Amino acid sequence: MANLLIFILIVLLPGTGAAQSAGLGLPARAPAQQEETMRIELGRALFMDPRLSRDGTVACGTCHVPEQGFAFNALPTSIGIEGQRVRRNAPTVLNVAYNESLFHDGRVATLEEQAWGPLLAADEMGNADRASVVARLAVLPEYVATFRRAFGAGVSAERIGTALAAYQRSLVSGGSRFDRWYYGNEVDALNAQEKHGFVVFRGKAQCNACHKLGRQHALFTDEAFHNLGIGVPDAAAGDGRTSEAGSGVAGAPSDAGRFEVTGKARDRFAFRTPTLRNVELTAPYMHDGSLATWREVVDFYDRGGNGNPDLDPLIGPLFLNEQDKEDLVAFMRTLTGANVEELARQARAAAPPLSTP
Ligand code: HEC
Ligand code: HEC
Repeated sequence: MANLLIFILIVLLPGTGAAQSAGLGLPARAPAQQEETMRIELGRALFMDPRLSRDGTVACGTCHVPEQGFAFNALPTSIGIEGQRVRRNAPTVLNVAYNESLFHDGRVATLEEQAWGPLLAADEMGNADRASVVARLAVLPEYVATFRRAFGAGVSAERIGTALAAYQRSLVSGGSRFDRWYYGNEVDALNAQEKHGFVVFRGKAQCNACHKLGRQHALFTDEAFHNLGIGVPDAAAGDGRTSEAGSGVAGAPSDAGRFEVTGKARDRFAFRTPTLRNVELTAPYMHDGSLATWREVVDFYDRGGNGNPDLDPLIGPLFLNEQDKEDLVAFMRTLTGANVEELARQARAAAPPLSTP
């Protein structure tokens, strides 16, 4: 009865329901304080503002497109300043607050530090240094006022990073149909096919060996790095180019993944296990965007990844039947958060010109 009442409240009060349930299935987080709220608003405006790039053309939201699950659907890897193609696929920033390390190779630990990566990368936002970004914003009265409100101080490099981090930490998106079923005990939130897909996910296919879930919440990642053989150079090609099977991106530069951070041989071609939340919205898949569809992903795992000497021992042929594969895909589609449209709408509304009090 109590469950039914909660269910009715959630269904009959759209908006509030989505907001309240957005945390379902995710670890609890402290509610934002007033000061934090202002930093989030400022960070949102910064995230969507192309004036943060050298020539005013590229915003964070150009590659982390709000309507595309804060990722980039159009191409395997995204496009930075002056049309330059970047090396990797833009991951979603939804639920990035929970990541223990950032980037496909985990080379950065905090969102504050991460923000300056794209801002200064020559092929992303192209700024020469932090000072030039600060100087550009410091002459915009709306930003000066908003930094004062959020920090009691003017524009600085550190505060730009803090605001962008605060905003991204607020992009929490749980409350998916899966969460309502698994953590919210709503027995009808998934249909029979989707439920069977979950049985395959945890059973025959052992996807949860790496895309982990717990009794109280699920991030669908073990926070570790694994070699699935994606992007392993084709020995036959012998020229460092990625193999057809591995990459699909002709001539894509080879990418050694975690090895580039640790220098350890066993980390060669290992990449961070990404969350599967909101994966319905974030095609194409993998660090190089080489798998265009769900079906390609499931077929890839079914055949046991791309063979190479360092292939993760957890990867091998699965012998799934047609029904298993379809159900697995149906299951993954249930992981889309309740509030993703709302978060996208808020991001668009924050696009410059920034509203001032
Ligand atoms: C030109 C496209 C592009 C732009 C612009 C861009 N990003 Fe990214 N972003 C990427 C790509 C590609 C990656 C993955 C890079 C890697 O793993 O080496 C990434 C990774 C990230 C990550 C790590 C996510 C994770 O799960 O590890 C965060 C956070 C992030 N970007 C935030 C931002 C912010 C904040 C801005 C603006 C200051 C921004 N990005 C601008 C393409 C872009
Ligand atoms: C050995 C650990 C491991 C297992 C088992 C595993 N995955 Fe993955 N998964 C990863 C890693 C690591 C990546 C990222 C690889 C890359 O970027 O090149 C990934 C990426 C993905 C992606 C792409 C996500 C994105 O945003 O690009 C999907 C979808 C996915 N896995 C689904 C599955 C399914 C379905 C199964 C079971 C059939 C499975 N995984 C089993 C480790 C694993």
